[in-house]
Amino acid sequence: MDKISKNNNITWFNSYVCREDRERLHDHGAAVIWFTGFSASGKSTIAHLVEKELHSRGCSTYVFDGDNVRHGLCSDLTFRREDRAENIRRIGEMVKLFVDAGMIVLTAFISPYRQDRRKVRSLLKDGQFLEVYVECSSEVCATRDQKGIYAKAKAGVIREFTGISAPYEVPENPDLIIRSYKEDASQAAERVIRLIEQCKLIR
Ligand code: ADX
Repeated sequence: MDKISKNNNITWFNSYVCREDRERLHDHGAAVIWFTGFSASGKSTIAHLVEKELHSRGCSTYVFDGDNVRHGLCSDLTFRREDRAENIRRIGEMVKLFVDAGMIVLTAFISPYRQDRRKVRSLLKDGQFLEVYVECSSEVCATRDQKGIYAKAKAGVIREFTGISAPYEVPENPDLIIRSYKEDASQAAERVIRLIEQCKLIR
C-alpha cells in the first residue's frame, strides 16, 4: 500500500481498488457531465433525464444541482463572486471523488465564471469533464421561472442575480451546446447520451 507524504502531517492513502477497477466493475467509464447556463435554462431537467436513461442501461450515476447543494454542503455561501468560486471549488472536489468512485456524475450549476469551470476541468483527466452549455436567454428563462426569482431580481429584491445583475461567461469551447429555447428536454437528453457514447464512456 502506497502512502505519499505531504506537508502538514497529511498523508494521501492510495486504496487497493483503483478507479479503473471500479470502471471495469460498472462496465462504463467515469466522468462528469457539467451543465452550465442560467437559472431555469433547463440544466437540471435535462441532467435528470440523462440520468434516467443511463440508469436504465445499468450505469452508476448521480445528479448534483445548485439548489440542493446550497441546502447542505454549501449552505454557508452567498452569491457573491468569491462565494460562487468557493461553491464551484467544493463541488469540483466532490465530483472528483465521485469520478474516482467510477461513476457518471451530472451537475447542474449556473457556474457562470470560466475560471471556476476551468479549475474543475483541471482537477480531472482528459475526457473526464464534458461541458454542456444550456443556452437560453434570461428573458426566456424568466418566462419559465416558477419560483418568481427573476421577478424578484428585476425588482432588486435579490441582488447579484445571474443574467440580470451579475455576469454569465459563455463557454468558449463546450463539448455540446443545447439551445433549450427551441429544443425540447428529451431531444436534448438524447444528444447528451450520444455525446457520452461518442466519448466511449458507455457502449
Ligand atoms: S452558482 O452561480 O454558484 O453556480 P448555483 O447553481 O449554485 O449558482 O445556484 C443557483 C440557484 O440559486 C438558482 O437556480 C436560483 O434558484 C438560486 N439563486 C438565488 N440567488 C441567486 C442569485 N443571486 N443568482 C443566481 N441564482 C440564485
